[in-house]
Amino acid sequence: MSIQTELQETIDSLVRRGRGILAADESTPTITKRFQAVGIECTEASRRSYRELLLSTTGIGEFISGVILYEETLGQSASNGLRLAEIAQRQGIVPGIKVDKGTIDLANAPGDKITQGLDGLGERLKGYKEQGARFAKWREVYPITPANPTLLGITANAEVLARYAAICQSYGIVPIVEPEVLIDGDHTIERCEEVTEAAQNEVFAALKRHRVQLEAMLLKPSMVVAGKGHPPKASPDEVAKRTLRVLRRTVPAAVPSINFLSGGQTPEEATANLNAINTAHVNVPWLLSFSYARALQEPPMAIWKGKPENVAAAQEAFLHRARLNAAAQRGAYTPAMEKGSGAG
Ligand code: 13P
Repeated sequence: MSIQTELQETIDSLVRRGRGILAADESTPTITKRFQAVGIECTEASRRSYRELLLSTTGIGEFISGVILYEETLGQSASNGLRLAEIAQRQGIVPGIKVDKGTIDLANAPGDKITQGLDGLGERLKGYKEQGARFAKWREVYPITPANPTLLGITANAEVLARYAAICQSYGIVPIVEPEVLIDGDHTIERCEEVTEAAQNEVFAALKRHRVQLEAMLLKPSMVVAGKGHPPKASPDEVAKRTLRVLRRTVPAAVPSINFLSGGQTPEEATANLNAINTAHVNVPWLLSFSYARALQEPPMAIWKGKPENVAAAQEAFLHRARLNAAAQRGAYTPAMEKGSGAG
């Protein structure tokens, strides 16, 4: 199969109305923190059991078209001996892989970050592809302070995202390009909008410079929201208006789908905001969907607590959250649908 056909097939499988992406790619230090917060011991076995719980949820493939895995998970097998990636495939879910190696301080730009992992990326992609991965994810972060992100931060992060995306496509792997403007801080929603527009503008300039095929990538942005230290929270309509304005100004129509991260919003907020985005727009060229980690996983993880007897209830809560976000993708979510979750 040609690389072009491979990329197109993956895009066609991922970009489907009423479906979104599950981000289950927390690095070991991150999942350790999330497990500890709800009293689960973090071991290779507990991480495997938890991810098996998510991927083997009956019916989940109706709402989830792709899953982003962490390297460890891609190599793990479930209790029945099937590889976790294969369990996803059997549900009609395309396996993907987080390929960045996390952030460090960006030299000469105090307060800004840069993501590592480009060296040897092509070789790693070959291996991940053999294990079943068809798409990848790379996240750059943009902290907001009165001085950040700097112009250097914005240009350096965009350049790295574009290099990653170009490398992925040359190996027939669809890149998810994730510029995350962080919710930490007490900044206003106006400031978040300004930073998001500047960051995304530069990302698309870099993607074009690196000749990334826009038709064969997905954008995973943050929504435009105020800092979490700046209450009260904006209404879903306000978030939708500002988020859509920035997307229209910065994202070419050639990009097939925009899959938001949840970025510290509660599960209910992330669903309500996605729904508002999908009801506010008229004729946008992209599918507008989700690629949530916390907003899909918080309820099932809290219910599971690492105990086999809680697996069924946790799966019910996960399926419920996925169903609500799938409804939000179609603009068909109402808060009344929150009732009856297995989340208790
Ligand atoms: P959240 O939805 O929890 O923000 O995670 C999405 C993600 O993949 C971050 O890289």
